[in-house]
Amino acid sequence: MSESLYINPDNAHKAVQDALGAITGATTLAELKEVRSAHVGEKSLLSRMNATLKDLPGDQKAAAGKLMGESKAQVQQAFDARETELQAAEETQRLQDEALDLTSLGSRRPTGARHPLSVLMEDMADVFVAMGWEIAEGPEVEHEWFNFDALNFDADHPARAMQDTFFVEPVDRHLLLRTHTSPVQIRSLLQRDLPVYVVAPGRVYRTDELDATHTPVFHQMEGIAIDKGLTMAHLRGTLEHLARAMFGPDARIRLRANYFPFTEPSAELDIWHPTFVGGARWIEWGGCGMVNPNVLRAAGIDPEEYQGFAFGMGIERTLMFRNNVSDMRDMVEGDVRFSEQFGMVV
Ligand code: FA5
Ligand code: MG
Repeated sequence: MSESLYINPDNAHKAVQDALGAITGATTLAELKEVRSAHVGEKSLLSRMNATLKDLPGDQKAAAGKLMGESKAQVQQAFDARETELQAAEETQRLQDEALDLTSLGSRRPTGARHPLSVLMEDMADVFVAMGWEIAEGPEVEHEWFNFDALNFDADHPARAMQDTFFVEPVDRHLLLRTHTSPVQIRSLLQRDLPVYVVAPGRVYRTDELDATHTPVFHQMEGIAIDKGLTMAHLRGTLEHLARAMFGPDARIRLRANYFPFTEPSAELDIWHPTFVGGARWIEWGGCGMVNPNVLRAAGIDPEEYQGFAFGMGIERTLMFRNNVSDMRDMVEGDVRFSEQFGMVV
């Protein structure tokens, strides 16, 4: 770089422009500090030009001195301004980095809520807990024996077919995704002392297509009561009590003769739905009946001595009737706006 220390307006102008360019180009105080030593300090071009003043002939000294003074002042001024600016910017940044917003809450993230189906399932079970019943559970991956055989299903009953039931491979292990909560009846009878009064809410699986009133993964609540002298009247009274607890004092139920291999007699349980889309009508809620003596025998109970009833109803259906949900798909799609309508119960 050829550099002339000769003092004239061109040289002075060029030195000033270089210095101003460097000053504007500095984006941090650290960079500006380097600019200072190169363009403002003792070793800067302007300072070195200034040092040659004393060698100039006397008649040029005044004009050259003025030029130098103005140039150095211009650079110094730009430098000071930039320094103030960068100091302010860095201070602002530091304050921002260290800022604590005392008005912001630590838990602004939505905490989520329990799904209305889970809440409802618990509410339904509570109706029975209040009457002294117990809550039982069973596995969702169930043995075929509990899901079908012990419940008196024939070996060739259509419900056992692949098109209705999800079997778990390898098929010769006879495991399946339980198609109803009824296997918990058997498990309860085998595990508990008599009398037995249990409800078993839980998830079940069928190869059903997802539509407005069906889903392949849904929930049921099973109930089983085994004691001496239980009759169909006890069954009906129990179901009416549950219906009123769920749907209000005006709720009406209807039992229609039906067939289940594990109950005899069996009935379809319908509920009167006064506000059903398309008009008031009876809708199937679940199934029920008196426990079949074959089932009692499979659990080692003497049907001459003990009798009882059982029932099982859909939880999704219960939510539909109770809260006027017209499409079951809303329940499974996981949109929180659906759950929020039921209140964020956590
Ligand atoms: C049963 O599953 C019997 N285990 C009920 C039972 C228990 C009878 C104890 C006797 C004694 P069913 O297949 O009808 O029965 O189903 C019972 C209820 O589950 C139906 O009424 C309905 O409310 C609900 N349900 C059935 N399939 C679906 C489905 N794909 N999606 C949502 N809910 C369903
Ligand atoms: Mg049915």
